[in-house]
Parts: sequence; C-alpha cells; structure tokens
Amino acid sequence: MNNSEFIFYREMTEDDIDAVWSIEQSSFPFPWSRESFQRELDQSHTIALVAVDQGGVAGFIIAWMIIDEMHIGNIAVHPRMRRKKIASGLLSQLISGHPDIVWFGLEVRKSNTPAIALYQKYGFTVKGVRKQYYEKEREDAIIMVLDRQKIRKGEYGLV
Ligand SMILES: CC(C)(COP(=O)(O)OP(=O)(O)OC[C@H]1O[C@@H](n2cnc3c(N)ncnc32)[C@H](O)[C@@H]1OP(=O)(O)O)[C@@H](O)C(=O)NCCC(=O)NCCS
Repeated sequence: MNNSEFIFYREMTEDDIDAVWSIEQSSFPFPWSRESFQRELDQSHTIALVAVDQGGVAGFIIAWMIIDEMHIGNIAVHPRMRRKKIASGLLSQLISGHPDIVWFGLEVRKSNTPAIALYQKYGFTVKGVRKQYYEKEREDAIIMVLDRQKIRKGEYGLV
C-alpha cells in the first residue's frame, strides 16, 4: 500500500534536526554528524526538504545548488516508511521546485542497489566511478547525473 496522500513536503527547519539525525543514524553505517545538519541549514546554497506524515518527519533530502546545477548530497527515509514513494516525492519536490536547474548529480555507493534503482527510475544515468570515494567503507562511488530534459515523470507526477 502507498500512503503518499498523507505525506507533505516542506523546507527543513532546526526543529526537524533531531528527527532527521535519527533517520540518518538508522540509514547509514557512517552517518553525518548532528552538527553537519545544523551547518547545512545555515548555508544559502543548501536546499533541505523533509517529508512529514502524521508521525512526524519520515524522510529528508539535502542538495547543493551551484548556479544552474544541483548536487544531491543526502537522502534517506525512515526504515519503517520505505517503499511508500517518499524518496520519490522528495526528489520530485526538489526537481519541480527548481525549474532553472538543468543538471542534477550525485554519488552513490556501488552496493546501494535501492538508491541506484530509485535514481534510475527518474532517468539518472551512470557517468563514472570515483574509486574508494567512501574512505571508511573503502567502497567506490557511482557518479550519476540527470539532464532536466531526460527526467522521467514519477508515478506521482510532481515533475
Ligand atoms: C534509497 C531510499 C532513500 C529509497 O527511499 P524510498 O522512499 O523507500 O523509495 P521509494 O519508495 O520512493 O522508491 C521508488 C523506487 O526506487 C526503487 N527502490 C526503492 N527502494 C528499493 C529497494 N529496497 N530495492 C529495489 N528498488 C528500490 C524502486 O524502483 C522504487 O519503485 P517501486 O517501489 O515502485 O518498485 C531508502 O531506501 C533509504 O533511505 N535508504 C538508506 C539511505 C540511502 O541509502 N540513501 C541514498 C544515499 S545515495
């Protein structure tokens, strides 16, 4: 079942950081620090969105805008809330909310099959590999990019 109709998306605020950090910790072996999220909110080039349901923050996305390009730095959904199109909704909101951005990029762990599948669904393609990019995990990163013109409309049609 998807319950995306109960989800809404908005900008992340300081009050969200505890919930966001908790999702971060349950999503990554080497999570960002709490201070990293605080710092991101202070940056003018950072776009930080949360997905919220009745229980609170269910997921988040952080991206950095550089003129007409956007780099997605972090995205995660609460483990209990996955496969409900929340990450899809966050991506859609990010993309549709910034119509002037012509190019989106990101790095993803080579073994992160769910995330790679998510990005491919939106039309991201593999552009290369950064060897041992994740130093602590000693894992390569796949570089994926998306031209706005090549966006595949998501099931929830926000872009
Ligand atoms: C990757 C992640 C953000 C996906 O969030 P989500 O809300 O569950 O994703 P969605 O429900 O929007 O999934 C959309 C599509 O992505 C793909 N996908 C998502 N999770 C998948 C999984 N576990 N296995 C295979 N494909 C998956 C599917 O194509 C899915 O569409 P479908 O459900 O119709 O098959 C989530 O698994 C997560 O938080 N992982 C840990 C953090 C992480 O790895 N972040 C990415 C860093 S680069």
